[in-house]
Amino acid sequence: AEPGPLAGKTLLLTAGPTREALDPVRYLSNHSSGKMGYALAEQAARLGADVTLVSGPVTLATPAGVTRIDVQSAQQMLEAVMARVEAHEIFIGCAAVADYRPVAAATDKIKKSQETLTIEMVRNPDILATVAGHSKRPFTVGFAAETRDVEHYALDKLARKKLDMIAANDVSKPGQGFNADSNALTLYWPGGSKDLGHSDKATQAEALLLTIAEKLTK
Ligand code: C5P
Repeated sequence: AEPGPLAGKTLLLTAGPTREALDPVRYLSNHSSGKMGYALAEQAARLGADVTLVSGPVTLATPAGVTRIDVQSAQQMLEAVMARVEAHEIFIGCAAVADYRPVAAATDKIKKSQETLTIEMVRNPDILATVAGHSKRPFTVGFAAETRDVEHYALDKLARKKLDMIAANDVSKPGQGFNADSNALTLYWPGGSKDLGHSDKATQAEALLLTIAEKLTK
């Protein structure tokens, strides 16, 4: 590992969307590009961390020095994360995990015979909350993408999911969040907060990681 504020630290993170299969050729997903998670992985490696990136399907290149595990569904992402959680000191949940999946994927391609089609969905596990609830939990950081009352919902998530820190952003503002190259995160932790301003995702990622490094040394 490189020398730096995260030298020798082990970081596990999730990035990108998940795909929930409907049948052998179709899936439900979302518009997550993975850019924020990949920026975090790249900057963490640069700051000296040993980085494992559990990634949903994205079109981004793996950052130098980062170990990448590719998954498709939320359940696969949970398994990949939980198999590695005890070996890591920091976890950042940056993936846009599908909240629901079809109850069962059809074995054969669904045919267009009926005029309407109903798909029954079931809740996916919450990967971030599962990590935070683990007995040997790492320093656990989540993201909150909100369209209103950002602080209220971020603080609610911090408490409800029992996180060490949450990075909140207002995705209703243009040029932030999903698919954008820049972001404007506000960090919250029990008893404090920090506004990171508006900048490119590499700068946001570095500022978030330096704040985590500060908390770990305290
Ligand atoms: O509750 P909400 O989905 O808004 O929380 C967002 C945070 O929770 C993100 O850090 C996301 O990666 C994580 N999450 C998760 N598993 C889910 C849903 C969200 O890890 N099933």
